Amino acid sequence: MLLEVCDVFDNKQYFKILLQANWYGQTKVLGLLYELEETVLLSSDLYSREYRVSPEHVWEKMRDDYPLFYDEIGKMWWVTRYEDVKTVFSDHETFSSSTYDLTTGQVVGPTLISRDDYGHVVRRSIVAPDFVGKRLQTYEHLISVCAENLIQQFSNKSDVSLVREFSSQLPVDVISAILGMEGDGDLFRTWVTDMIMGLSGSEELREKGLEANASFCRHIAPLLEGADNGERNDHIAKIARAEIDGQRLTKEEITAFCGLLFIAGGETTDKAIANMWWNVLSNSDIRDAVLNDISLWDYAFTETMRRTPAVISEDRFVTKPIELYGSEIKEGERIRACLGAAHLDPTVFADPLTFDLFRSDLHIGKENRSGVSKDSMRSGHFGFGLGKHFCIGYELARKEAIMGSEMIIEKLGIPSLSKEQTGPTIQGNSFFAVKELLVSFKP
Ligand code: HEM
Repeated sequence: MLLEVCDVFDNKQYFKILLQANWYGQTKVLGLLYELEETVLLSSDLYSREYRVSPEHVWEKMRDDYPLFYDEIGKMWWVTRYEDVKTVFSDHETFSSSTYDLTTGQVVGPTLISRDDYGHVVRRSIVAPDFVGKRLQTYEHLISVCAENLIQQFSNKSDVSLVREFSSQLPVDVISAILGMEGDGDLFRTWVTDMIMGLSGSEELREKGLEANASFCRHIAPLLEGADNGERNDHIAKIARAEIDGQRLTKEEITAFCGLLFIAGGETTDKAIANMWWNVLSNSDIRDAVLNDISLWDYAFTETMRRTPAVISEDRFVTKPIELYGSEIKEGERIRACLGAAHLDPTVFADPLTFDLFRSDLHIGKENRSGVSKDSMRSGHFGFGLGKHFCIGYELARKEAIMGSEMIIEKLGIPSLSKEQTGPTIQGNSFFAVKELLVSFKP
């Protein structure tokens, strides 16, 4: 019997099963037994409109039939299964983050995110402690003040554009305040938008991004002076004074890191908040459950990070030749860890397309860097990455989302979505979010 691929046409691969016999060394086809077709995956599928609107089917195809896929258009490999994505994030010796030299590095300059060496460890130990645990609690009142200021501006309305009026503003306002520049949110927002656009690969937009970064650097330069004054309690002063192994950050490094904070913590948190509201409000049972028990916002945030993560993929360069699923990946090639697809892996999460607040297979609450839950029946999501480059702002983002949401409900009442509201779509390279969310409130 022979299985013969006879044509690939319009995303379909046609097979024939032929009955053949071997007669004195000569093969004769005796007849056609069966003809079948199978949908094949083309690189163009990953760049189609359908994919942007509803990537889940393509991801399923990839996990099932193409666990390692070479994307001719993007010139990179893709992995989509949960365990493979976990490996790419965790094994930083084989999968390097130097890909960031070509994105954020081109706009804000070199930062810890593109390094995998001891220099990364030193820099992270200087900047990260401020964003977790007790030290983060000292910033809670800033979050509440920033949220309050925004809510005041729409608290007398019954219809609110949640993204424009709230979620796109809060994270930038909070980072500005943490850096010691309360009230500068509007200024930063324009620069940060240009800086993020500068990552798109277009030379013209990169120039604009660089100009925005130059304005940004000039604006924060005065804060770099006098940081040794122990009375100053802003993040810039704290990281300027911090020393690890006798090393301090240079002024250039501090400025670049501040730029990275806006790029990494602005739109991501905005989109996570908006997606969370979409998930909660688009199902009335879930909405009612959360309104009856506000502690469920915490569950809603975690399940949002799994089902509709704001960032769906991260790229790495392969540092040495490796073999995966029978293919060789050469040193220097790019590999994309598609965490959005990994979160829908049915071997890890039951009924993965369903947004379920009470999942028994998902690690709920604060994430951890190893991705391993104390409860062996639960698995972590990769929405904040994993391992060495695990997100520095994961607790801050959760706090902003939950505190802000509770405050809005308290002030404006019961929220609902219009029937026309559509769900998250892929934006740019790796964002997945609702563009706008029109929410009506009843006191
Ligand atoms: C829901 C909101 C957020 C999401 C979805 C998110 C997502 C991520 C992801 C996936 C990574 C890992 C990148 C990689 O491994 O290639 C990361 C790293 C990072 N994030 Fe976040 N992030 C969020 C909020 C924030 C906030 C609020 C801040 C800071 C204020 C922040 C700062 C950073 C930094 C500095 C890194 C690099 C860490 C390192 O290289 O060691 N992020 N984030």
